[in-house]
Amino acid sequence: MENYKNVTILEHPLIRHKIAILRDENTGMKEFRELIEEITMLMAFESFKDVPTKTVTVKTPLESVEQEVVAERSIAIIPILRAGLGMVNGVHKLFPNAKVGHIGLFRDEEKLSPVEYYCKLPDGIENMTAILLDPMLATGGSASAAIDCLKKRGVKRIKLMSIIAAPKGVEKVTGEHDDVSVYIAALDRELNEHGYILPGLGDAGDRLFGTK
Ligand code: PRP
Ligand code: URA
Repeated sequence: MENYKNVTILEHPLIRHKIAILRDENTGMKEFRELIEEITMLMAFESFKDVPTKTVTVKTPLESVEQEVVAERSIAIIPILRAGLGMVNGVHKLFPNAKVGHIGLFRDEEKLSPVEYYCKLPDGIENMTAILLDPMLATGGSASAAIDCLKKRGVKRIKLMSIIAAPKGVEKVTGEHDDVSVYIAALDRELNEHGYILPGLGDAGDRLFGTK
């Protein structure tokens, strides 16, 4: 498998198992949604190894002890609409107090270029680590535009988490944003003429929300 700078492929038998079911065209909407959430949680567990922590004093029934806890308020979860929404709970389960911002982008079906239609980010985001969520990294146009949008708001620490990626998308994002850490669970072969990832899983938004 190729090595890309700043890209971690989160390979684990449990993740591979869940991705196999996710790809299956016979997997229905409910199971698809649950799998996206579970895979995201497994990915977040690995990709937040460097999460900021602080020391607090905890009183056990016997004595006081200094303990490390996650500084959750320093994390912002940013799904790219629509499909990124399916990943939010997977991260929220680990960081229940993390704030959530939304970036709305869709791909122009002919040019495949991203069109922004919504952006609402938490106050103070410039001092947080933003975890950008989108299950599919195809041409990379949407993720790269979302990163631009975060950088314009002064965000300095950005992680991108995508479940399935195509080489073209990884190359675009890492080429344009070499300061962003990218975490993926599967690096697929290529894109088809419509910009869909092969073998991929089809249209993630439609499978999550039952729109087709
Ligand atoms: C999908 C997906 C990504 C984008 C990836 O969204 O969720 O946001 O395509 O493609 P790219 O890497 O080539 O930009 P889509 O535009 O279909 O919008 P939707 O989630 O609202 O269906
Ligand atoms: N968006 C999707 O939902 N699937 C793809 O394969 C590519 C972009």
